[in-house]
Amino acid sequence: MSDQTAIQVSDYFDSETFGRIKAFAENRETPFLVVDVATINRQYDEMTDAFPYASVYYAVKANPSTEVLTLLRDKGSNFDIASVYELDKVLAHGVSPDRISFGNTIKKSKDIRTFYEKGVRMYATDSEADLRNIAKAAPGSRVYVRILTEGTLTADWPLSRKFGCQSDMAMDLLILARDLGLVPYGVSFHVGSQQREIGAWDAALGKVKVIFERLKEEDGIELKMINMGGGFPANYISRTNDLATYAQEIKRFIQEDFGDTFPEIIIEPGRSLISNAGVLVSEVVLISRKSRTAMHRWVYTDVGKFSGLIETMDESIKFPIHTDKKGEVEDVVIAGPSCDSADIMYEHYKYGLPLNLAIGDRMYWLSTGAYTTTYSAIEFNGFPPLKDYYI
Ligand SMILES: Cc1ncc(COP(=O)(O)O)c(C=O)c1O
Repeated sequence: MSDQTAIQVSDYFDSETFGRIKAFAENRETPFLVVDVATINRQYDEMTDAFPYASVYYAVKANPSTEVLTLLRDKGSNFDIASVYELDKVLAHGVSPDRISFGNTIKKSKDIRTFYEKGVRMYATDSEADLRNIAKAAPGSRVYVRILTEGTLTADWPLSRKFGCQSDMAMDLLILARDLGLVPYGVSFHVGSQQREIGAWDAALGKVKVIFERLKEEDGIELKMINMGGGFPANYISRTNDLATYAQEIKRFIQEDFGDTFPEIIIEPGRSLISNAGVLVSEVVLISRKSRTAMHRWVYTDVGKFSGLIETMDESIKFPIHTDKKGEVEDVVIAGPSCDSADIMYEHYKYGLPLNLAIGDRMYWLSTGAYTTTYSAIEFNGFPPLKDYYI
């Protein structure tokens, strides 16, 4: 049995938008990503309506294309940056450095200096060595400390463990920040990308509250800011609550912990702003069965783990797939075109694709606007990086 029947495109796109994307895609050589910029525009407005008390710092890593950066620059977004390369790109698009936060806790001292020389004054940290580097290379800057959070089991793409520190360490670092002449500004967390359990923010905010209170009472440090990271949902196969429900609940959690006077709140959406706007168009290269009696087919397509779909690793992100073929569906294994046996996207989660799907047919991978183009390898097996178009 398949885990799903054919998906309904109408759960993901209105027919006008999907029609426009398909028309644009029609005579182009696959594989490629088409991004509908109007969808991002709308989702940014939904995000700022849902979180009127928060400043948006777009996580550039999700999709750093000129079209996305220009749109978000003009809409007044700020930017969460992971490297000097992203920094240069965002500055080249005319964003002023006061709209930028260096959100990566793992960074070279010389890169901190570059950020500082270019005018950036806000830095994330989660370790003493990094904090000391910031104090030397970016004196007087605002720092926020990232804490570890629970919630990795309910996030489709967990981020904790590698980033963040325990609350006791966070307090030590914020005190040290003050002693080193920095501004101990706030606390950040990321509850895991595509976090399906809204309570994950509650648990994280509870820890933040303790840090705020202890530092104020015991050390006279008044923190000003909470950076709630990303983790807000995109539309994939595993459904989530809608953004408004996330926002409502999270507002309640903040009120419970901080009353009606909120600290400055930052959010860093990536996936939730961009994913739903993208459709990756691929073509079926080959369909086979592994034995005469095999119950399922293998469908090999011209896009794979190494050409943009790395988030299918461990089948973490389950992208909705549409084909124009109708009729009875049968279980398939879906794999990419490269000569690497790791290049299998879905084998355990059973996608049902129509029995009459044929070599040469197109597959439309929905909700692929984020974390696809940049993850695409540049020459694996000679395949070029994933092309992208913005309409
Ligand atoms: C520091 C930071 N902020 C924000 C994001 C974006 O998260 P999401 O795509 O879940 O919105 C990430 C993702 O890796 C991140 O590392």
